[in-house]
Amino acid sequence: MKTRYLFLLVVTFCFMSTQAQEAKIRWNKQGTATQLCIDGKPYLLLAGELGNSSASSINDIKRIFPKLHRLGLNTVLVPASWELVEPKEGEFDFTLITSIIEEARANRLKVVFLWFGAWKNSMSCYTPIWFKKEFNKYPRVQTEEGKPLEIASPFSEAVFQADSRAFEAFMQHLAEIDSQKQTVIMIQVENEIGMLESARDHSPTANSLFKSEVPLTLMKYLQKHEKELHPWLIEKWSKAGKKIHGSWETIFGKDPYTDEIFMAWHYASYVERMIKKGKAAYNLPMYVNAAMNSRNRKPGEYPSAGPLAHLIDIWHCAAPSLSLLAPDLYDNGFIGWTAQYKLHNNPLFIPEIKLEPNDGVRAFYVFGEHDGIGFSPFSIEDAPESPDYPLAKSYQVLQELMPVITQYQGKEAMKGLLFDQTEKKRILKWGHTTLICRHFFTLPWDKRATDGSLWPEGGGLVIRIAEDEYLVAGSGIVIEFKSEDERRLTTVNQTLGEDGFAAEGSSIRSTQNWEGGKRIGLSQVSEVHINADGSMTEVRRLNGDQTHQGRHVRIGVDDFSILHVKLYEYK
Ligand code: DGJ
Repeated sequence: MKTRYLFLLVVTFCFMSTQAQEAKIRWNKQGTATQLCIDGKPYLLLAGELGNSSASSINDIKRIFPKLHRLGLNTVLVPASWELVEPKEGEFDFTLITSIIEEARANRLKVVFLWFGAWKNSMSCYTPIWFKKEFNKYPRVQTEEGKPLEIASPFSEAVFQADSRAFEAFMQHLAEIDSQKQTVIMIQVENEIGMLESARDHSPTANSLFKSEVPLTLMKYLQKHEKELHPWLIEKWSKAGKKIHGSWETIFGKDPYTDEIFMAWHYASYVERMIKKGKAAYNLPMYVNAAMNSRNRKPGEYPSAGPLAHLIDIWHCAAPSLSLLAPDLYDNGFIGWTAQYKLHNNPLFIPEIKLEPNDGVRAFYVFGEHDGIGFSPFSIEDAPESPDYPLAKSYQVLQELMPVITQYQGKEAMKGLLFDQTEKKRILKWGHTTLICRHFFTLPWDKRATDGSLWPEGGGLVIRIAEDEYLVAGSGIVIEFKSEDERRLTTVNQTLGEDGFAAEGSSIRSTQNWEGGKRIGLSQVSEVHINADGSMTEVRRLNGDQTHQGRHVRIGVDDFSILHVKLYEYK
């Protein structure tokens, strides 16, 4: 009897602890948003990624992690290098991984590990030397001319077995040392997968697969999801006659982009098998990152077949266990890139972005505009250690805002703002209220606005928390609130000086007569602090000069703050 009781207790305890583990990190759908939840609460990764060689020594980690904590990060993205964890074939050494987790805990950081396995920026430089030297056993891909590249073949079972065995052991180690505390919250599988120099592998194995039929699974997927496919893919398939069986060139036409689709299918299939093995050891969310196909380059000129937006359906079909495809942003066109990766079937996470002062406002844009789950400048250890560094100020405010941002994700009540010297203005509309949002330097009162200085980007987020109540947060923005009636009125030369008088050479008279109707005024503007439970505490009341005598709300380019704005109507 006693033994049976004990057995039941043990079973119940195990069941409870498995349940608890599962419950700690999970995905949640809220309206149009997908949220990453930790301990039951949606979490935003206010993160940074370490430079490639900064996590290979524990002394560096010990030096860097406290700095990251002081910078206000809550998460760090850290390479886990295959060559370091399996220096001798079949012999694993996870000492460094364990130390990274311990240091992260000591500095209140969560960790996302980046598995630098078979591929890192297309290449196979992180594979252990015993793997590199055995090129017959672990073959490389080839160009059309037969030149081998230092890129392990995704068609080779031996490559997969070696890479996935190490990955599985790594995940098993994480399960053993971290499944209770769950400092590690997500895993990136490989890094910037993709073929360079050639759009696809031209080895005999690859050539023969390229000539064979497109797998039935993919053809069925294309037909089933025809209405939701990425516009690029449906166009390509349609142009080639929308056939439902045949070789890759029969289905998609003959060009380098078909080579890319073929290669994407095989890379993604490889990744799916990696994820399955990894998750069987320890079930954490897993994602892949992509180098962008920018500056009019063709597949092979950029890493062909990576997890790119136009290939999302190929990746989804071949790798359904992936949580998301994430863009690494180093090129111009931030607004465009982020829009490409926030899709109905892909939550936005920026695992890498060039480290620069504008990252502070860009982070706000990612969370405000796209319900992003995280933002992470690259080589974060190089950020200046100053409380005035924009990213430090930004993360401090975003950390405060986390309960409010996550409350409003996916509900059409939140927008992001991002302005520079060219894109200076955005109009938002909710109900009958129009928000005219601009870069702070469109107010010409600060010398830097007009003396030829390069404007820092201005940006933030706006949340409509009630019909006549808003939260505005960020840096370098100014917002006027107008009713529909007054917005229809056009005025000329209505530039006002800081004192509210007509600026030199301008008139403040309307060109049209007022036709009646209500106007919107500011009833109360406060700078606020958001408490951990999402409630607000007023820091100071803003009025007079700080609201241009009731005309607008604003946050200067040197500040990051949160404003609570209440509106009223008058006639
Ligand atoms: C993108 C890669 O993913 C990173 O690991 C790093 O190589 C940066 N590019 C550039 O330094």
